[in-house]
Amino acid sequence: MRNVYLATAFLVVLTISVLGFRGTKFTHPPMDVFPELFFPGMKQQPKYKNQGASKFFADGRADRPLPAGVVAANYGPLGDALSNDSHLVSGKMADGSFAPGFPETLEVDLKFLAHGKDRFTIFCAPCHGALGDGNGITKQYGMGATPTFHDDRLRNMSEGEILNTIIHGKGNMLSYADKLTIKDRWAVIAYVRALQLAHNASTVDVAPAHKSELGIK
Ligand code: HEC
Repeated sequence: MRNVYLATAFLVVLTISVLGFRGTKFTHPPMDVFPELFFPGMKQQPKYKNQGASKFFADGRADRPLPAGVVAANYGPLGDALSNDSHLVSGKMADGSFAPGFPETLEVDLKFLAHGKDRFTIFCAPCHGALGDGNGITKQYGMGATPTFHDDRLRNMSEGEILNTIIHGKGNMLSYADKLTIKDRWAVIAYVRALQLAHNASTVDVAPAHKSELGIK
């Protein structure tokens, strides 16, 4: 008989301890059988929630203000022109079609091209090749489908559509929106245009001031 009482008491305690505290919120950290001794600083870590309070910072807020000069990736140095200029931001015109040419807010000069070359060499040349002919280093590792910029389709592609590919990627090409600011993207496009121009250029296209450098009369 004594065993029956004990077993009943055990079952009651078990049932209450398993089911009775379901959904109960702890106000203190739970009891830790193997505490910090074994995992110092790892088991118990502070966590801040959005817009929560923090005793650590002098202003009492968990959210920290942005350091001076920080810009969100999609806003870039041209952020001021961001909101309304869809040509600049998305490469599209008001009717949703791809915009030809460069946005008026940009000055496409040699400095801009040099910046485009710099970004292109880092972010595009590994696949598209330094000359834009699709013979980048990745070709040797099996990425054979990278197109050349020098066929008619890509020569005639509007600047807006190239921007769209940079922003959203295409096929095996990922988006570069998190690596290139808006200005960077347009500088890269300008450089792609320069590569296309150079690919089919003849000595007639060389500016007179530069002819002697190339040994052309
Ligand atoms: C990882 C390799 C890789 C890198 C890096 C890369 N691309 Fe591409 N790109 C591709 C591939 C592959 C395609 C073909 C996509 C398809 O048609 O499916 C492509 C296609 C394109 C096209 C043609 C899109 C079309 O509509 O046919 C353009 C323009 C282009 N890339 C520009 C760029 C620019 C500019 C950069 C640098 C910001 C860049 N790519 C970086 C692999 C790459």
